[in-house]
Amino acid sequence: MTTATIHQYVPKTAPATGERPEVPIRHMDFQFDARELDDTFFRNTELASAYFEALSIFLTYGEDLVIDTARYHRQFVKDPELKRLVTALIGQEAIHSKMHNEFNDVLAKHRYPVNFYRFLADRVFELGFKKLSNRMQLSLMAGIEHFTAVLAEYMMKHEDIFYESHDEKQRALWMWHMLEESEHKDIAYDVFQELSGDYGLRMRGFALAAFTIFFLVPLGGSLIPVFRKPSNLLRPSYWKDVRRSLAVLAGPREGVFGSTIKHTLDYLRRDFHPSDHDTSAYLEYYKEKLLHPETGLLTPYMTKEFIPGKRA
Ligand SMILES: [Fe+2]
Ligand SMILES: [Fe+2]
Repeated sequence: MTTATIHQYVPKTAPATGERPEVPIRHMDFQFDARELDDTFFRNTELASAYFEALSIFLTYGEDLVIDTARYHRQFVKDPELKRLVTALIGQEAIHSKMHNEFNDVLAKHRYPVNFYRFLADRVFELGFKKLSNRMQLSLMAGIEHFTAVLAEYMMKHEDIFYESHDEKQRALWMWHMLEESEHKDIAYDVFQELSGDYGLRMRGFALAAFTIFFLVPLGGSLIPVFRKPSNLLRPSYWKDVRRSLAVLAGPREGVFGSTIKHTLDYLRRDFHPSDHDTSAYLEYYKEKLLHPETGLLTPYMTKEFIPGKRA
């Protein structure tokens, strides 16, 4: 890898050193079981749930790119606190990728064409994104993290969605991921700003991340129900599901992407910072709900938790 271009960065809205919340690395063991898998997990839909299954596959590749990019650029980060948080980001993403891969292995047992999608995602990342320059990958990393932060905030605001299915492990997987994406949402952006800060470059990374989320993943997701059951194309009930799925994904009032478009596009602002979207109250609420030693939803699945480089 070649050396990234380093520019002086003066943080405008990033929290000052010492004020940043901790980002713990939590090891999980979900023991997914194909027999428990609800393939209409998201809003009791077939197609929108398939979008999240395709996302689960693409995410592992996106997370591996974030890990490699963060690991390479960590050496150039001057702020010691940010450097420590980069290590936490890498740790959280490594476990996300591992857990989603375990989930995807279970999807594969469920007759879903996971290996074909892994092959396609692998081609997109190996022949496309990983051939980009270091500075472009740095921007793409920040772009990916923006989309996961938008998605996490949406999910935190719509807790009920998780309880429309009995699939407890899928619920735990997505809620754990949601919590941690929100915990570390500033880090990749701050690294980008410290090492580059180039607005045009940031926009190009955003465009690539948007292309993946709005085109590549839906393309994959839209084919899943057809691969799984070609007769779906002839069933009127399936086309009803398509309409409902489009509403829960793209609808302007409550759709995952339709209702968050303002937040998504806020990234285009020159003085944007992820912390402009304050999720601290949600984080407090979900930490209690998910991690409480006795009643936490994640407690049965969490095997270890630690904070990298934490001062005594
Ligand atoms: Fe992640
Ligand atoms: Fe992330």
